[in-house]
Amino acid sequence: MKVDVLLGLQWGDEGKGKVVDVLTPKYDMITRFQGGPNAGHTLEFNGEKYVLRSIPSGIFQGGKMNVIGNGVVLDPLLFRQEAEALAASGHDLTKQLYISKKAHLILPTHRILDAAYEAAKGSGKIGTTGKGIGPTYTDKVSRNGLRVGDLLHEFDRKYAAAKARHEAILHSLHYDYDVTELEAEWFKALDYLKQFNLIDSEHFINRSLKEGKSVLAEGAQGTMLDVDFGSYPFVTSSNTICAGCCTGLGVSPRNIGEVYGIFKAYCTRVGSGPFPTELFDETGKRIRDIGHEYGAVTGRERRCGWIDLVTLKYAIMINGVTQLIMMKSDVLDGFETVKACVAYKVNGEEITEFPFEINEGVEPVYVELPGWNVDMTKMQSEDEFPEEFNAYLSFLEEELEVPIKIVSVGPDREQTIVRYEEE
Ligand code: GDP
Ligand code: IMO
Ligand code: MG
Repeated sequence: MKVDVLLGLQWGDEGKGKVVDVLTPKYDMITRFQGGPNAGHTLEFNGEKYVLRSIPSGIFQGGKMNVIGNGVVLDPLLFRQEAEALAASGHDLTKQLYISKKAHLILPTHRILDAAYEAAKGSGKIGTTGKGIGPTYTDKVSRNGLRVGDLLHEFDRKYAAAKARHEAILHSLHYDYDVTELEAEWFKALDYLKQFNLIDSEHFINRSLKEGKSVLAEGAQGTMLDVDFGSYPFVTSSNTICAGCCTGLGVSPRNIGEVYGIFKAYCTRVGSGPFPTELFDETGKRIRDIGHEYGAVTGRERRCGWIDLVTLKYAIMINGVTQLIMMKSDVLDGFETVKACVAYKVNGEEITEFPFEINEGVEPVYVELPGWNVDMTKMQSEDEFPEEFNAYLSFLEEELEVPIKIVSVGPDREQTIVRYEEE
């Protein structure tokens, strides 16, 4: 069997959690391969709402294996909070969840370093989630990181060395902090972590594939936040793209199957950085209000704008997307017309290939299409789609050259319409 991969094609928050939950019944195993608690994946079903950060979104569909892969960075304290909240709501994870020994640990001082680096950048700050993601991946790449598997061998010595190094940096930045309380809680959470299945996940996953088990990989963030191909430096610190699934799980590129690319019918971004189609007017505010565009974890206001086909085409190319999934089309239900950016104007010239940099000089070129002006939130099948909506889908499929297989018309698991049923 192969690993199917689900990836965000914009700046994150496309609705990955919801769709992974919807697709889970088709799979035996759900895995996370990069990112960490910077993610906030929302699921809604049976009138309940859950937000997951490090735990795969397959956890609610009984009997599935859920794996936190080696490419993930894990904060034991935030993990404990997440796992305990799930246990309190009747979802015990200890038997269904597996954690790679090679996943890197987010230390208390990583979180402080994240804040210190942001403060040092001043107005040029990235607007990170403040979870220590950048500093933890930095330590991984500079070969100074601590891994989950280190818990089992000489942990205290390794921890003390890492902390001393971090404290020297914080001192050089003249950054005031007190880590005592956080550290005490963190160590308690470290003990809590030991009750889970800590495994060599690359063997576990490959063995499962060989045995005929089906695996879905759940991306975090989105392609435009990828450290190589996103809007650098306003990105996260991992490879959020399809290739990140190979390094973040230990699976060969030959074992990648379907690549699901997920996008909103418009576009959002949280944190700083360029966003060519951002709307600063009433329309942007309207999208934010109707779409409840506030961070799932941080509550931060998300910046809103029209769909950007230049970035979407780029993301489809980089990831080799085989099927598209469009989310939150219901948010545009009441609009007279909708716009899609089909090119950028740079120095008076129109370009359709995503450029090296997107800055103030990039001006979006829009196509305006008729809105559908119908409440689609209770629709059950594509036969009910209004004509204008079908025209919008056809326009996108023609531009993007990939079929839109699923349309989501509301946050609930049930508000999901599969367009092309498999034979
Ligand atoms: P993720 O990080 O990609 O999993 O996405 P988030 O959970 O951060 O943000 C998506 C938000 O949109 C959540 O609040 C979801 O409940 C909500 N959502 C998902 N799909 C839809 C949809 O089709 N329509 C509406 N109105 N909301 C949706
Ligand atoms: P999900 O998985 C949206 C953004 C932050 C910031 C930048 C770097 O829910 O889609 P970091 O803390 O990673 O160093 O922050 O990336 N960011 C996200 N934006 N959704 C996310 O995850 C994000 N994770 C990080 O806002 O701009
Ligand atoms: Mg999110």
